[in-house]
Amino acid sequence: MTREQINIVIVGHVDHGKSTVIGRLLADTGSLPRGKLRAVKALCEKNARPFEYSFLLDVLKDEQSQGITIDTARCFFKTKKRDYIILDAPGHIEFLKNMVTGASHAEAALLVIDAAEGIQENSKRHGHMVSMLGIKQVAVLVNKMDLVNYDKLVFEKIRLEYKEFLKRINIEPIDFIPVSAREGDNIARSSGKMEWYEKKTVLDQLDGFHKSPSLENLPFRMPVQDIYKFTQHNDDRRIIAGTVATGSVSIGDEVRFLPSRKISAINTIENFNTEKSTTSKAGKAAGFTLNTQIYIRPGELMVKREEEQPRISSRFKANIFWVGRAPLIKDRSYKLKLAAARTSFKLVEVVSVLDASDLSYDLNKQQVDRHDVAECILETVKPVAYDIIDENEQTGRFVIVDNYEIAGGGIIQECLDSDESILKEHIREREIIWEKGSVSPLQRADVYKHSSKFVVITGPEKVGKRNIAKALEQKLFDNNFKAYYLGITNIEHGLYSDIIDRTDIFEERIRRLGELARIITDSGQIFITTIDDADDFDIEKLKLLNEPNEILVINVGNSKLNKFPVNLILDANEKPDVAVEKIFQLLREKEIILEYYL
Ligand code: GTP
Ligand code: MG
Repeated sequence: MTREQINIVIVGHVDHGKSTVIGRLLADTGSLPRGKLRAVKALCEKNARPFEYSFLLDVLKDEQSQGITIDTARCFFKTKKRDYIILDAPGHIEFLKNMVTGASHAEAALLVIDAAEGIQENSKRHGHMVSMLGIKQVAVLVNKMDLVNYDKLVFEKIRLEYKEFLKRINIEPIDFIPVSAREGDNIARSSGKMEWYEKKTVLDQLDGFHKSPSLENLPFRMPVQDIYKFTQHNDDRRIIAGTVATGSVSIGDEVRFLPSRKISAINTIENFNTEKSTTSKAGKAAGFTLNTQIYIRPGELMVKREEEQPRISSRFKANIFWVGRAPLIKDRSYKLKLAAARTSFKLVEVVSVLDASDLSYDLNKQQVDRHDVAECILETVKPVAYDIIDENEQTGRFVIVDNYEIAGGGIIQECLDSDESILKEHIREREIIWEKGSVSPLQRADVYKHSSKFVVITGPEKVGKRNIAKALEQKLFDNNFKAYYLGITNIEHGLYSDIIDRTDIFEERIRRLGELARIITDSGQIFITTIDDADDFDIEKLKLLNEPNEILVINVGNSKLNKFPVNLILDANEKPDVAVEKIFQLLREKEIILEYYL
């Protein structure tokens, strides 16, 4: 059986004794190679140099790294319970970058404070760092108790003061331990010199830290990378391909795709180059066929229906480590890669900033510079599915791309609801400056004999949506109504000349369509278009963009809409004239066209 391993970071003000604590742990747990301690002590004596426990780290580092350079000083040692990797006084920039991007991680932190010197600037800055990285398990070691005569009052004073500070930055320390690293008090052995203390050692505390659950034991998450179609023998099945990020899934399990919310069940699991299997686990690349043919897009997150669900929103609070040359600023669009999803986002608010070079902390900064770690609120153009970092590291992390370069990494701290979205703000502003002509909507309706409407016909591909839409336009026209059918691809070329990124093509299409609908409905026409498989978010966006004018939604065949009210449902491949008859009926009911005009 493989032994459990846990990463711990040790931080604190310069010279407060971090390396000594680790040296002591190594020596007192018997983790050093045989005779090493004696040899180092003898060497010190020979050079007339006082022995330091921190020397053991260098000796060990040389041996453990075996010539490989390691960026931060790492030490390995074992207790009965498990293996430890201790990261000592990590260079801030490298460490913060690795932690945010997921290249390395620490599950708990030891904060060291010198009892004689008390709380120093870096004791606070390191506290901020630990908080920004979302490390929840923290224990504070009040070191060098020998220098203050093992005095309880000194310990208590530091404990109260530092606890108060940590509370302000959202850290609740598990415990404060009075220690003397040099003398070995309460490191691996409890001390006889502090009768007033309950006897818990640093080693006890280390073994007491909780290990985060292994990837396989988390809820099932698979970012959908691609969808392949079987092409042979008229087979219309699709394979959903990706790598399982966490958890596991078996044939027969009901799954849900997010953010579209489509549901199906696993029919088969197709492994690449290996035997067929009935289960797929974290870390495995796999393809899945489903029981029902649903239409989904790459970038969605596949989850199990009965398990804990991820969050879906377009707004969230995240801690970002920025490495971009240009600062991260508001009112600019950046690309976000989160699991398989690719989307654009904007910076909405900078909450606080930690400068990684000196760990100074700023609550008033409005942009994020290179090597800052910033707590920010971001908003994506379309909702994405994700987890909070505490719940799932794999799906709670993202990368930011600016100008085709990686400009930052982030961890998601909190899901925010999107009521005050950038889209709504845009529409508010647009309506304020909207210049009206001298003909009112009522005057137009009176002359045209109908009110304006944006008619969206959606449903799966190849169910006859276009024929229905064109027949509807024709019949409205034949009845002297003002109607216009727009082929959706007509707005991809023209209208705007800039090349749009493939990742945002759906979003951009919807955005253009919505803005155009606002104009055409304003001209009093019945504006008709078709969209393949629009989901709730697409329709919601169109509705907002078309405001203050109204939208009608008609679905042909299987619907992707769960929340948004559909005004009319038609069967797949309904005959266009029958469909148009039903739509006319609806237009009459809604008093868009009035009975007596027909
Ligand atoms: P940097 O890595 O430079 O930030 O320092 P550090 O936090 O690793 O401190 P280090 O362990 O190197 O200790 C600094 C000095 O404090 C050394 O001279 C240690 O011998 C001394 N020291 C560490 N722990 C104790 C202790 O418990 N008691 C006393 N009296 N001295 C200690
Ligand atoms: Mg050190």
